Amino acid sequence: MKAEILTLLRERSDYVSGQELCGRFGVSRTAVWKAINQLKKEGYPIEAVQNRGYRLCEETEEVYSLSGLASRLQTEWVGRPVRFYEELGSTNIQAKAEAENGAASGTLIVTDHQTAGRGRRGRSWSSPAGANIYFTLILRPEFGPDRASMLTLLMALAVADGIEKTLAADEREGEPVKIKWPNDIVVNGKKICGILTEMSVERDYIQHVVIGVGINVKRQEFPPEIASTATCLEEACGVRLSRCTLIADILESFERDYEEFCRQGDLSTLRERYDALLVNRDREVCVLDAAGEYRGTARGINNAGELLVETADGEIREIYAGEVSVRGIYGYA
Ligand code: BTN
Repeated sequence: MKAEILTLLRERSDYVSGQELCGRFGVSRTAVWKAINQLKKEGYPIEAVQNRGYRLCEETEEVYSLSGLASRLQTEWVGRPVRFYEELGSTNIQAKAEAENGAASGTLIVTDHQTAGRGRRGRSWSSPAGANIYFTLILRPEFGPDRASMLTLLMALAVADGIEKTLAADEREGEPVKIKWPNDIVVNGKKICGILTEMSVERDYIQHVVIGVGINVKRQEFPPEIASTATCLEEACGVRLSRCTLIADILESFERDYEEFCRQGDLSTLRERYDALLVNRDREVCVLDAAGEYRGTARGINNAGELLVETADGEIREIYAGEVSVRGIYGYA
């Protein structure tokens, strides 16, 4: 009920009477009073005036909490339920444990601080408190494991869309948000988001997939090994934004695209949007695979999410995400 009260107060931006809240949620005045007090304790600037009711004052500092997230979510099933932890080792590890314990498809694990954040290829993921977004979504798809890698691309698309939407809502403009295939989000040639998808398979059947997303939001000092290639949204786009709103926007976009993906069975109807966001499109890239290194021009993705790279002799190679690393020829992007 706390999240619903918050949503209502935010929508109304004027006083809402205790009586109306009681009627709407079918609870006593004491229950409403208790919920309001808890929200105040969490840090929400709620004003209570006799005979008028409750009003949410301007939210100058964002409260990053379960109520904050739940009050912004507008999805049907993605992010339902959402679980918020002040601190975790890694949201992916937590999500896998919860999935093993039967958590439903759509369950979202969010934390403010990871003490053992994990990146791709066994790397760590810098995860300080109070600065960034770290979440993992649990899915139980009905398609086979061969399609799971495409989920990472879907999430990249959702993150790029979500950022654009959050910025557009406040009429903020910034550097364009791009995707570095398969799953990094970059602004101004620097990385602001990474995605780590992990899957549990039994025979030929997906038990669950967890998609972990880390987004650098506030200004921070990055570890030396990534200092030259990483940036954050505040710096790259020159804005302060609500982490809760951004997560809600990303999930809304993901839910819509995931359902479309399931209907089509591939990325055919989403590919054009993905390609339009591709940072390397029609640019020379350097591909590193098991056999060595070669150069070519990135032409976009195919319906299976493989990167199409045209080599000097005109051959189009289809690159599967698991096998390679692709770099811009002048650096990371
Ligand atoms: C990458 O190396 O680019 C992937 C980084 C993924 C980081 C996110 S943060 C939330 C989730 N939990 C983790 O431990 N990792 C992912």
